[in-house]
Parts: sequence; structure tokens; C-alpha cells
Amino acid sequence: MLIWITGLAGAGKTTIATALYEKLKQKYNNWVLLDGDCFREVMGQDVGYDLNSRKIMAKRMSRLCKYLTDQGIHVICATISMHKEVHEFNRKAIKDYYEVLVDVSMENLIKRDKKELYSRVLKNEIYDVVGMDIPFDKPEHPSLVIDNNIMDNLDFKVQKILNVIKL
Ligand SMILES: Nc1ncnc2c1ncn2[C@@H]1O[C@H](COP(=O)(O)OP(=O)(O)O)[C@@H](O)[C@H]1O
Ligand SMILES: [Mg+2]
Repeated sequence: MLIWITGLAGAGKTTIATALYEKLKQKYNNWVLLDGDCFREVMGQDVGYDLNSRKIMAKRMSRLCKYLTDQGIHVICATISMHKEVHEFNRKAIKDYYEVLVDVSMENLIKRDKKELYSRVLKNEIYDVVGMDIPFDKPEHPSLVIDNNIMDNLDFKVQKILNVIKL
């Protein structure tokens, strides 16, 4: 099984994915958590953040997810990676594929802005930020949309995912 948790930077992907992983790990030992930022570190930061580099990275994650799920390892993958072709690849390649969109409005993301990504784009200090100068394909067929405009009810949001997946 692959649970692909997507959303823009600061939406709450890592938080929700980690809480889900902790919960599943208590019961089953064949779960792996793959987080976009950690994956970049593991890969050695050989590509950047422009659209093409992001696609390269997303495809690597997808292929690794397939490789693992083919061996009976379940994967939770938390990553922005909002590319239609990647979502389509996942859906085709992996039988038990769930796509979870952690949805937060751009207005709230800009207010939140923990990593100061959005404010720095607005000040023209940086670029290559998804949702600002980098376009994204919002999932067309998500298995679940989690409204995380208010950062609360983490357990409830994790439970929503558990209710959707067929273990
Ligand atoms: N449902 C939630 N409950 C509590 N804190 C949350 C929740 N969602 C997000 N947060 C907080 O918001 C911040 C950004 O979340 P994070 O998971 O790092 O986002 P992302 O991985 O999508 O960039 C973190 O500081 C996290 O603690
Ligand atoms: Mg994260």
C-alpha cells in the first residue's frame, strides 16, 4: 500500500504523516515513512527546486514507493510533488494507492509561513516555491481531502486516513 500525502509547503504533511506512521507502527512493523525533505537529504541534494528538478525528485520517490510496495512494504510518502504524471504513475503502478490532499488556502499558508518561503517570494528574495511561481497540479482524484486550515485535531485527521485505507 502507498499513502501519498500531498499539499503545499507548510500545509501539515510531515505532521500528519508522522502521526499516522506512529499509529500504524504500533500495530504493524512493515511501514516506512518517506518524507520529501528527508528523501532529498538521503539522495544527496543533487537536484534543486525548479519545476524540472522537483519532477525528477518526485519520480524517484514514486519509483522507490513502487519498489518497496512490490515487496510488501507499506509506504507513507509525504511530499509536495503535485505533478499529474506522477499521480497517474502511482495510480497505475501501485494497486493499493491512496492519495491524501492536505488542503490549506494560500491565504492561510502565507499567514503561517513557518519557513518564510512565501514572504520571501513576495519580497523577491527567493523563487521556485510551489503555489507561488511554480505551478502545481492539484490532485484530481484524491482518496481523501483533509482540511488543515486550522491546525488542530491531529488525531481526528489521522483517524480519517485510517478510515479510508483498507488494511
Ligand atoms: N493538525 C495539526 N495539528 C497541530 N499542528 C499542526 C497541524 N498541522 C500542521 N501543524 C504545524 O504546522 C507546521 C507545518 O507543518 P508541517 O507538517 O511541517 O508541514 P509540511 O510538511 O506540509 O510542510 C508545523 O509546525 C506543525 O507542527
Ligand atoms: Mg514537511
